[in-house]
Amino acid sequence: MLPIPSLPPPQPCASSRPPSRVRRPAPAPHGLADVLRQHKDMKLGMLVVALLTGSITAWADNTYFSTHLYAKFRVKGCTNCHDFFEKKLGGLSYKSHKGRTPDRCVNCHTKDVTGFTHADDWFARPDLYTSGMNSQRTCEATKTALHAQFKNETLAARDLEKHLFEDPRVLWGIEQATPNSGRLPEEKKEVDLVKGGLPEWKEQVRAWIQAGMKCN
Ligand code: HEC
Ligand code: HEC
Repeated sequence: MLPIPSLPPPQPCASSRPPSRVRRPAPAPHGLADVLRQHKDMKLGMLVVALLTGSITAWADNTYFSTHLYAKFRVKGCTNCHDFFEKKLGGLSYKSHKGRTPDRCVNCHTKDVTGFTHADDWFARPDLYTSGMNSQRTCEATKTALHAQFKNETLAARDLEKHLFEDPRVLWGIEQATPNSGRLPEEKKEVDLVKGGLPEWKEQVRAWIQAGMKCN
């Protein structure tokens, strides 16, 4: 501990100073910025910033689908495949992949490329969530695809976790979840993958599921 410095001696009264040193009273602070600007003690400023940052983190409620998951469900690594048969969204089956039938996917998206145990797990299908959806619809489409409305909540939660944590296509779309995540034929690579890796993904998906899979 440093010794506490003794207080400075009391200032001489204003009338003894030369007139040039008489200052106008500082304007009353209006907002937080004013208070911070006027306050000479940096430590107080830092404390206020720390408190604010803390409350912003608390506001970012990770039980909402919209907080973290919506952005992660929108990466190209997921939507390029979910949009595959959507003409309006520039689906690949109307562009570079025109005329490529389901039995041919494995010719190029081989095990060596995808890292899948079964190469034929690389396939596309309509009626999934797609890139054009807002957070609410993305969430609802995900639950609909799993037929969540017909299941006990614990079964729906289990199925959703299983899909989102173990499905080879999902893992392919998460950065570094597998050594082959993002790999495409002809040495191509999808770089817009789910950031933050598998541990963060699991934590955020669990928070949403445990809070009841609400679509807000
Ligand atoms: C190679 C294409 C492909 C990629 C890449 C892909 N998906 Fe899918 N996804 C599918 C197909 C096909 C289905 C339907 C599975 C079925 O019918 O058995 C599906 C189904 C789903 C479902 C619905 C649940 C279900 O069991 O049907 C969710 C949720 C989902 N995908 C999320 C994702 C996320 C998140 C990513 C990216 C991290 C992703 N997918 C990447 C093709 C893909
Ligand atoms: C002749 C080889 C070939 C066949 C067959 C093929 N693909 Fe591809 N696929 C590629 C190549 C190369 C790319 C990367 C460049 C591009 O987008 O065309 C690619 C990219 C993709 C992507 C984009 C992934 C991303 O996130 O960027 C998807 C989705 C996809 N293929 C799905 C399929 C499906 C589903 C089938 C079967 C119906 C299929 N492919 C058949 C060669 C092929």
